[in-house]
Amino acid sequence: MKFFLDTADLAHIEEAAGWGVVAGVTTNPTLYARTGGKLADFPSHILRICALIEGPVSAEAVGETRGEIVEQGRELAALDSHVVVKVPTTIEGLAATKVLADEGIDVNMTLCFSVPQAILAARAGAAYVSPFVGRFDDISEDGIARLAEVIEAVSLYDFGHTVEIIAASLRSAHHVTQAALLGADIATVPFGVLQKLIKHPLTDRGLASFAADWEKVAKA
Ligand code: G3P
Repeated sequence: MKFFLDTADLAHIEEAAGWGVVAGVTTNPTLYARTGGKLADFPSHILRICALIEGPVSAEAVGETRGEIVEQGRELAALDSHVVVKVPTTIEGLAATKVLADEGIDVNMTLCFSVPQAILAARAGAAYVSPFVGRFDDISEDGIARLAEVIEAVSLYDFGHTVEIIAASLRSAHHVTQAALLGADIATVPFGVLQKLIKHPLTDRGLASFAADWEKVAKA
């Protein structure tokens, strides 16, 4: 399983890129809004992310019609070869994905919550499908169980192109553990979650005891 960073925060992306484990970035309109960025600066912001990360960078095409999504998708894809166009899992999104994919543009179909949505996204030509986990938990449903269904269903078929499952809306180490055990291709995680993933109290305790013992060695 690869790790993507689910943020548009340049400082967080730069910091995490230095850890050597971030294979890509996913952004969405909410994450960009959190940076305080203006609409006109969105393309340059995506370019700055592309300069920090050697891997796919998802940028969302925000439009209501397939025509609007395709137009925005083409503009975003033209920014940098790393850009993956994020498209919502709707009828207009499916139609736009088909057009973009036929033009050789990688699409990440997002806001996916069901097996039929995931299979339709893959059939439309999406290179990435993003089932959301945490938002099910928000409505007292089992997001991990829904993710498991999507991973299993997509793995049963040959779509004629590579389809990677991005486990999204992950909020905890537990979510990431389950995504890994289920065989998700990618886990996209917020910076705060990525920080927590490497932490373990037994690692800290072991490190403290090694340091104390090494001090004894140095004084002996
Ligand atoms: O990238 C989209 C997704 O990961 C959003 O997560 O926490 O807003 O449900 P969340």
